[in-house]
Amino acid sequence: MTEAVKVFYPAPRARVQAMKEYHPPLGCRDALRLDFNENTLACSPAVRDVLGRISAGSLTRYPEREPVEAIVAAHLGLAPAQVALTNGVDEAIHVLFEAFLEAGDELLLPVPTYTMYEVYSSATDARVVAVQANDTLQFPFERLLAAIAPQTKIVAIANPNSPSGSIATRAQLIEIATRAPQAVVLVDEAYFHFCGESVMDLVGVIPNLIVARTFSKAYGLAGLRLGLLAGPVELMRWVRRVLSPYSVNSIALACLPPALEDTAYLDWYVGEVLAARAEFEAALDAAGVRRWPSHANFVLIEIGARHKEFVRMMSAAGVLVRDRSSDPGCDGRVRITIGTREQMRLAAKALNETLAALKTKGVA
Ligand SMILES: Cc1ncc(COP(=O)(O)O)c(C=O)c1O
Repeated sequence: MTEAVKVFYPAPRARVQAMKEYHPPLGCRDALRLDFNENTLACSPAVRDVLGRISAGSLTRYPEREPVEAIVAAHLGLAPAQVALTNGVDEAIHVLFEAFLEAGDELLLPVPTYTMYEVYSSATDARVVAVQANDTLQFPFERLLAAIAPQTKIVAIANPNSPSGSIATRAQLIEIATRAPQAVVLVDEAYFHFCGESVMDLVGVIPNLIVARTFSKAYGLAGLRLGLLAGPVELMRWVRRVLSPYSVNSIALACLPPALEDTAYLDWYVGEVLAARAEFEAALDAAGVRRWPSHANFVLIEIGARHKEFVRMMSAAGVLVRDRSSDPGCDGRVRITIGTREQMRLAAKALNETLAALKTKGVA
């Protein structure tokens, strides 16, 4: 009998061993995907034109981000040195945390909020201080202020927030930045286009403010992985030290200028989503489903104890929605992305039929 060979694998850092794995649910191709807050239709036709003209030869070269950063900065009314493009906002969060969080630091978060703040902070030696919103899920402003401590190093605020759809006001964000001068205040404006409120004009004015934006939502480019950080040059230079110079690929860089230019398409899509949201909210109200006010392209609803069955039955009806029950304070709650009016009429029909079926089974 041969002796079993013992194989040794090098161990990662203890922090990495303690991290939870993050597995986003996989969508099925022919369902209506209302589970990721994506654009549910398409990106601008101008982007599709550019995509069609990308040559294989151009792929042999490393991407050059600086000229595109200059275009994006001009679009935002900022200097190029104030803007860094990233491989989605997820990379932006990752590099920002890596640049600023160390042992003894605290990351301050209102919760529930976007999951990746906690995921990326868990790879650092910082401690998460989570401030729970009450049942209204409104931004817990006073309690967040009270939780600011000398060791607070980053305050991360998704505005509008996910999964609640709530917003922090401009005055609240300014107050937080003023009361925590030792901390970077990250305002993640991933859903900005659906609400119109922004603090981008305060970049470079408030010394500890950094704003994130994504091209994954309203622009419909989630598959390209494009995001950005905008902040004072004095902070962005540290972000750039950590950021890979090539993490935004050349196809994404080629698509960004036409996406920015086609404001007519963006306005049309946002208008369509806002009209669909109003219609869908009315359908929820008519069905007696509790919902939270939304400033984004999704709505959080109360399903209760049968949330898993609800999500399964909606999926069987061809509509994917996201169970948020494991988010703090969200037990029994489900998030539904808002698409076009036509799509949301289908979603409302599936929702009404699912609720009726659950009631018939005596389990609603
Ligand atoms: C608040 C928030 N920030 C960032 C992201 C991720 O953006 P990106 O696709 O640019 O990584 C999401 C995605 O759902 C989000 O909800």
